[in-house]
Amino acid sequence: MSEAFFHSLLLVAWFALAAIIAPFLLFVSAPYGRHARAGWGPRMNGTAGWVLMEAVSPLSMAFLFAVGTHENAVAVAFLAMWLLHYVHRSFIFPFRRRGGAADMPIAIVLMGVAFNVGNGYLNGRWLFTLGPAYDLAWLCDPRFIVGLALFLAGFAVNLHSDHVLFSLRAPGETGYKIPQKGFHRLVSSPNYLGEIMEWFGFALATWSLSGLSFAVWTAANLAPRAFTHHKWYKATFKDYPRSRKALVPFVW
Ligand SMILES: NC(=O)c1ccc[n+]([C@@H]2O[C@H](COP(=O)([O-])OP(=O)(O)OC[C@H]3O[C@@H](n4cnc5c(N)ncnc54)[C@H](OP(=O)(O)O)[C@@H]3O)[C@@H](O)[C@H]2O)c1
Repeated sequence: MSEAFFHSLLLVAWFALAAIIAPFLLFVSAPYGRHARAGWGPRMNGTAGWVLMEAVSPLSMAFLFAVGTHENAVAVAFLAMWLLHYVHRSFIFPFRRRGGAADMPIAIVLMGVAFNVGNGYLNGRWLFTLGPAYDLAWLCDPRFIVGLALFLAGFAVNLHSDHVLFSLRAPGETGYKIPQKGFHRLVSSPNYLGEIMEWFGFALATWSLSGLSFAVWTAANLAPRAFTHHKWYKATFKDYPRSRKALVPFVW
């Protein structure tokens, strides 16, 4: 079997898995953070687990770039977008969380590693070797420009919204409060909204099915969790703002 054929098969499986996982996650939320619960096997330190699980992404992408055949400025731009998000997500975000060292199931860490290996391979191998090489004119193409703008806007929304959440807790605190700042005034999970915007922006900027598969996966994973968070907020806080939506401002 050629590698290109293997890549296509994996891509189809990736889309199919996302379609299966989304309805499943509406009923079974991933057991970390406020939805942590017993029965998911042995656990490990949450910060170490987060770094381990996410570091696979920037490392695999950097490796696939280094061994790839497309190394012009467009490839560098794609790598830079990926690393901008993932260096933060892997090595800065976990240390900024407050109360984030709570244990997490090793099973969740392993699932995260497996996802990031597959996702890194699908994107990195396509963009840097198997897909067509982009010529430099791509940097002026409207799809690249709009995609990059959407990616950066999503990154800013994600970063700011996570920052608002961190600032709700004093060092050592672990409880939950109602976030009242920034995009939290509109939706319960603006950090997830920002993340989804980022990866749809990346899909547009790369104009690739691999990028689209990641965007679809992100939405399949985070939209049900946003819904579960929203339900949890409304059940936990009687004074939770009634006009606030789960994920999409003014809509849902
Ligand atoms: N691409 C993907 O598929 C994907 C998947 C998962 C996560 N992510 C990203 O990873 C980041 C973290 O995800 P997450 O699921 O942990 O997000 P989250 O549930 O919103 O929690 C983010 C952080 O804020 C704290 N927090 C949340 N709500 C709070 C409240 N009301 N009061 C006080 N503290 C609060 C959490 O503490 P606790 O941990 O104690 O709850 C956690 O440290 C997000 O930016 C998300 O977009 C991406």
